[in-house]
Amino acid sequence: MVEAVQIPVERIKDSKLPQVDFKNLGFGKYFSDHMLEADYVNGEWSSVKIRPYQQLGFLPALSVLHYSQTIFEGQKAHKDENGNIHIFRPHENWKRMNRSAERMAMPQVPEEIFIDGMKQLIELDKNFIPSGYDESLYIRPFLFASEETLGVKEANSYKFLIITGPVGSYFSAPARIYVEETFTRAAPGGTGAAKTGGNYAASLLSSAEAKKQGYDQVLWMDAIEHKYVQEVGAMNIFFIIGDKIITPDLTDGTILGGITRLSLIEMFKDAGHEVEERKISIDEIIDAYKNGQLKEVFGAGTAATISHVKELKYKDFVMELDVDSMTISADMKKNF
Ligand code: COI
Repeated sequence: MVEAVQIPVERIKDSKLPQVDFKNLGFGKYFSDHMLEADYVNGEWSSVKIRPYQQLGFLPALSVLHYSQTIFEGQKAHKDENGNIHIFRPHENWKRMNRSAERMAMPQVPEEIFIDGMKQLIELDKNFIPSGYDESLYIRPFLFASEETLGVKEANSYKFLIITGPVGSYFSAPARIYVEETFTRAAPGGTGAAKTGGNYAASLLSSAEAKKQGYDQVLWMDAIEHKYVQEVGAMNIFFIIGDKIITPDLTDGTILGGITRLSLIEMFKDAGHEVEERKISIDEIIDAYKNGQLKEVFGAGTAATISHVKELKYKDFVMELDVDSMTISADMKKNF
């Protein structure tokens, strides 16, 4: 661990805390009083500071607006009954951000900015951490190309920010999901494993179509054979077939390595379950459903925590699932 540095703080004059409706948090609606900001220019990090959450000034040629060189993380902090603050596995997010940075030809974010800066920011805005079931302080670190240029190249300047805000659950009810057959999210060699804005932008057309049809999200399939399931976009996917817990493996670089996914695999194994990380085809899932062996289907993500799937549709075949009997994942949900 690098030694903690004290980051200069400009405090807000009038806190926005009284404006937060803690009974009706939703997701991504409220932002805490302060944000952390740092600049990377010509190979060096500088101007690290914490200041009130506010507008950023930029000009129309800001390169991220044109070529999408941008990455982000999603994390959570909770307060325990003694008022102690816990950030969930922040080093895993720091490592993942730097893996995304490498893929997107962006600079590495140092630990003393990402981790120590985050701790100072959260301590300052700790009154925004909610305490209800399924509630938390959502933390959004992000890095983007801040050079003014229309040249297609890696930028020579970047801005790193962390903003936070109190959130409730991302999905308010068990999800209805259909398997996307037309569009794909990621191919081997692409950016599927990086947490970059373009992956999310490219998913919006499918999500909008899913919503029109009464579904919440789509489950992506592999781009080559259209046979193996990948992830949902806002979360990784898990299936319990018989007594095995199965989730797609990360080896071909098309799936985002979720920190909730990683934690769940570790916790399921610790609890004595058999966990398989491997390719899983839609045919295997349908066969298991027909044989009565598909016991539980759920997504796992920072925002989504564990979200049960009550309906999964592939072409015209609809799999209806009994969420009340999904006890293995429901027990695990209490930990997130
Ligand atoms: C997260 O779980 O933090 C995510 O990144 C999903 C999000 C895009 C809402």
